[in-house]
Amino acid sequence: MGFEKHRDAYHALVLCLLAVWSLAPEPVDGGITSNWVRDANLSADMPLWSDVFRVPPGYNAPQQVHITQGDYVGKGVIISWITPDEPGSNTVVYWAENSTVKSRAEGIVLTYTYYNYTSGYIHHCTIERLEYDTKYYYEVGIGNTTRAFWFITPPGLGPDIPYNFGLIVMNMLGDQGEDKPFKPYTYRFHVPYGASWSTAPFWYSIKRASAHIIVMASYSSYVKHYMEGETMRVMYEPWFVEYKVDVVFAGHVHAYERSERISNIAYNIVNGECTPRSDESAPVYITIGDGGNLEGLATEFTEPQPSYSAFREASFGHGMLEIKNRTHAFFSWHRNEDEIAVEADSAWLLNRYWHSLKEPSPYKDCSLKPDLSSLVYNS
Ligand SMILES: *[C@@H]1O[C@H](CO)[C@@H](O)[C@H](O)[C@H]1NC(C)=O
Ligand SMILES: *[C@@H]1O[C@H](CO)[C@@H](O)[C@H](O)[C@H]1NC(C)=O
Ligand SMILES: *[C@@H]1O[C@H](CO)[C@@H](O)[C@H](O)[C@H]1NC(C)=O
Ligand SMILES: *[C@@H]1O[C@H](CO)[C@@H](O)[C@H](O)[C@H]1NC(C)=O
Ligand SMILES: *[C@@H]1O[C@H](CO)[C@@H](O)[C@H](O)[C@H]1NC(C)=O
Repeated sequence: MGFEKHRDAYHALVLCLLAVWSLAPEPVDGGITSNWVRDANLSADMPLWSDVFRVPPGYNAPQQVHITQGDYVGKGVIISWITPDEPGSNTVVYWAENSTVKSRAEGIVLTYTYYNYTSGYIHHCTIERLEYDTKYYYEVGIGNTTRAFWFITPPGLGPDIPYNFGLIVMNMLGDQGEDKPFKPYTYRFHVPYGASWSTAPFWYSIKRASAHIIVMASYSSYVKHYMEGETMRVMYEPWFVEYKVDVVFAGHVHAYERSERISNIAYNIVNGECTPRSDESAPVYITIGDGGNLEGLATEFTEPQPSYSAFREASFGHGMLEIKNRTHAFFSWHRNEDEIAVEADSAWLLNRYWHSLKEPSPYKDCSLKPDLSSLVYNS
């Protein structure tokens, strides 16, 4: 899915979201293990009674309003919201900034039960054929309490379109005895999987500005996550290397880790080559299962730090991926230490397709930015 298009002009940077996998530990010292310890005190920044979590006032007022890309190329959005009292209207009214012409789109409404829980009325409405790089206002809750929001569409596609992504990885509830796997996820989060000819919302791809994003989900035992993505790795890693996927973002382990460019594709179970090797066509793997959760942190790392591990830290945070042009992207990770956004780890990512050179890595000092002027371009 998506891989067949790897030679088109927009293949500037490929991202993958997939469930975690880890590699066999190796008795060689790796990069940095951060010894940062989170303040045990609760944050005063965004407590549960903070107004951002408040149920909006008014009869049947739309809540939990969120948007997702709604088509393959970034000219569509899916708007989702929940009404608590009755289904209410499925209509979204929207208009471009400064435009007097208001358009309407009709969505759908769903409810689901999960054990003894019954959801509110979940609405999803897809709006298509928007203009790129344009601010739109929209209203939901038409007929009862109407609430207005806005979004800005991404720029058009192209390998040199700068674009910044904010990254948090969220865990979905697994298949703990329910009849339908990922039931809450599939009802609450609608994604444009049909636009990439996928048959299920767990597997699809989209393009956004200079990025080609492939989303892959995997099942989880929900008990512990180390190595649980191993079968997935065996299936997909040769493709990641062959098609020069730049970076794979994975979730679920409640910590942060960034790998070197390594692959394990030489290993065929009997040849003993189970140690990951440095491989300049391989993606950087970033585990960022650390958006915050109720289970607490994963604090036990493999010791000593394997050589494929460039940086790791047992704390919550979020990532920023800044695509500059077809060759360069800057990734940074910020731990959520309450009110301060500290950049704890960062690295330049050189595109594997457009820029086949070795990255200046490993960075033994994470505050040390690579000297770009020392890079030589391959023609
Ligand atoms: C945590 O809170 C307690 C009580 O307010 C305070 O005495 C302590 O210094 C705090 N710890 C840190 C690390 O800020
Ligand atoms: C809309 O109007 C505001 C204020 O007049 C202006 O700053 C903005 O550029 C306009 N936007 C568009 C898309 O024309
Ligand atoms: C659902 O079940 C849980 C566990 O059995 C119980 O604690 C909770 O109160 C129940 N909720 C409702 C709405 O019945
Ligand atoms: C909510 O809107 C519906 C029509 O969409 C209307 O029939 C109903 O009376 C409204 N309820 C209230 C309390 O305004
Ligand atoms: C791409 O971006 C990098 C980092 O900002 C910059 O150093 C480089 O000159 C850019 N390449 C081109 C061709 O503009």
